[in-house]
Amino acid sequence: MTKDEAEKRISVLKKEIDGNRYAYHVLDEPRVSDAVDDSLKRELSDLETQYPEFITSDSPTQRVGGEPLDKFVKVHHSSPMLSLNDAFSEEDLAKWQERLAKLVGIEKIKQSGYFCELKMDGLAVSLTYKNGVFKLGATRGDGVVGEDVTNNLKTIESIPLSLRHSEAKTKNPVANNGILHSVQDDVFKKELEIRGEAYLPRADFEKLNQEQKKKGQPLYANPRNIAAGSIRQLDPKITAGRNLDFMMYAIPTDSGLKKHSEEHDLARDLGFRTNQNNKICSSLDDVFAYIKHWNKEREKLPYQTDGIVVGINDEKLFKQLGVVGKAPRGQIAYKFPAEEATSVVKDIIVQVGRTGKLTPVAVMEPTLVAGSVVSRATLHNADEVKRKDIKIGDTVIIRKAGDVIPEVVEVIKRMRNGDEKTFKMPETCPICGGKVVKREGEVDYFCADKNCSIRQLRSISHFVAKGAFEIDGLGPKIIEQLVNEGLVKDAADLFDLKEGDLEPLERFAEQSSKNLVEAIINAKSIELDSFIYALGIRHVGTQMATDLAKQFGSLENLMKADEGDFERMYGIGGKVAESLIEYLKDEKNIKFIKKLQSFGVKIKNYHSPVSANKLDNKTFVVTGTLETMTRDEAHKRIVQYGGQISSSVSPKTDYVLAGENPGSKYDKARTLGVKILTEQEFLGLLK
Ligand code: IVH
Repeated sequence: MTKDEAEKRISVLKKEIDGNRYAYHVLDEPRVSDAVDDSLKRELSDLETQYPEFITSDSPTQRVGGEPLDKFVKVHHSSPMLSLNDAFSEEDLAKWQERLAKLVGIEKIKQSGYFCELKMDGLAVSLTYKNGVFKLGATRGDGVVGEDVTNNLKTIESIPLSLRHSEAKTKNPVANNGILHSVQDDVFKKELEIRGEAYLPRADFEKLNQEQKKKGQPLYANPRNIAAGSIRQLDPKITAGRNLDFMMYAIPTDSGLKKHSEEHDLARDLGFRTNQNNKICSSLDDVFAYIKHWNKEREKLPYQTDGIVVGINDEKLFKQLGVVGKAPRGQIAYKFPAEEATSVVKDIIVQVGRTGKLTPVAVMEPTLVAGSVVSRATLHNADEVKRKDIKIGDTVIIRKAGDVIPEVVEVIKRMRNGDEKTFKMPETCPICGGKVVKREGEVDYFCADKNCSIRQLRSISHFVAKGAFEIDGLGPKIIEQLVNEGLVKDAADLFDLKEGDLEPLERFAEQSSKNLVEAIINAKSIELDSFIYALGIRHVGTQMATDLAKQFGSLENLMKADEGDFERMYGIGGKVAESLIEYLKDEKNIKFIKKLQSFGVKIKNYHSPVSANKLDNKTFVVTGTLETMTRDEAHKRIVQYGGQISSSVSPKTDYVLAGENPGSKYDKARTLGVKILTEQEFLGLLK
């Protein structure tokens, strides 16, 4: 090959290699395999070794060329590299629009529209091209003076070493509706500056952290830190070893274009990677929809984004709005809610799933993560609790990413005070008291009683059913899901649920979580009779629950009652009294009721529907045949007027209402000195 031929071949190879780069990094449509690209690069490198006089600074072989530096050279930016003010809610954005509207009028803003961009979590850099060739790459520094990191930035393949304008113009003169064509050539010939974000793709970030972990070295907190660390390396070879990427977001050089979105199109034609998920939005409502969409979908992106940059799309208006402090007025950074937060583990409870599997669940101080309040996190199994060394009382980092169930990432062990308690799997099932078993070689523990969790599901279903707490939206499927996810172990846990606990579950969108939490809050105040029914005590249906409520008036009185009090109650059999005592004296049930109250459940005292409580909780026993009413009617009246009925006379009885031929109850009343009323006297009391 002659020298001339070599020069020509070098030029063809450079063009071909840059075309491959463009297809791969910018268009995301690779046109050749890596092996083919490598082969072309090898040929180019060989030719350049033979004819070093043809090596140019924009040759793809020069990406990892520079020698290590002693220190970085300072660079004065052509115009300050500004920062952005933050917004954290739709309200903040609405206020921002209001401020702008005050300055220039809402009409102008409407005409302009907004350009929304994904905010990359990396490091801001500036790239300067002279006569179309990459000459200077700088960090932001303090915004006025940065550092020359040209050689490091050259290692990033998505940064073009020379602009593609002449090629794009001749090959496709109307590329992007002629945007490139409408820009004056001299703009690029002299000097062109591009700003954007250098960042580490998600997969590389995770890989690097895994390597750090293996080496026992501290993990990088976020991709931004690694990007910064990689770019501020004195030896470009280290930067080259990190798979950094670049996404442009602005052209500070005056291009003469009218819209900010067009600058992105232009940059793409020039060979830069632009974000194809960016979008023109015509109103703030469109902006809100865009934010919502990406808040949910961002986990699926191959890079990390921490927010949305919303900007006035009209360049002239943007400039007119100017700068306040260090930030342009016409652009704002909406920050996604933080996906990590800290909380304290108040307890580790054990939830029993439908298959009987026992799952430890951390009950935490409610805390705001990713925009909603979270109070529980599954700990999966005992091994996981051990591996992460989670103790009751620990301060933990919790993470809730996108649609994923909240998880305890790690314990901040430095914050321990020695009072933390180690979790131990119970030996008996917390639901039914049955035996807990663990099969050989398996991590999970199971309750040996097959009916156990089904009973639990049924009791929760009964608790929220009609006549009880009446909570809409809690069908059996949802209850099962809540139990299986470890969010609910008993019905009381429902009252501690937070929107953020529900959102990640299947079938729960943001709105339905909100509706359910609202329905639960509304159900917190309950009538005594509905409450008694909800407890699901054997033999206590709605009628019996109402009778008990009338008889005892308050939960406190009911809890204090003894078997005799129940037996004396009219209409109660021994079986019912026994079942009531069995339930109400059981420590587990007393705890459950207290738990309900601690979660804000208010049980109202029973109020007789009568306005005047004439009989004022007095206890009556009716005996003999009455003249103007049957015994049943007398009972009804007594209750209606606020009294209580008993079936036998005791020192606690206030009155015995005696008709014709009274039985032994009359005699007992006399012996005990209980006041005996005739029918006339009784009716007199009611007047
Ligand atoms: S526009 C005045 N667009 O976020 C600065 N910035 O909080 C113009 N960033 O310093 C910024 N992605 O480093 C813009 N698509 C994007 C961005 C972006 C990431 C960074 C940038 C800037 C910071 C502002």
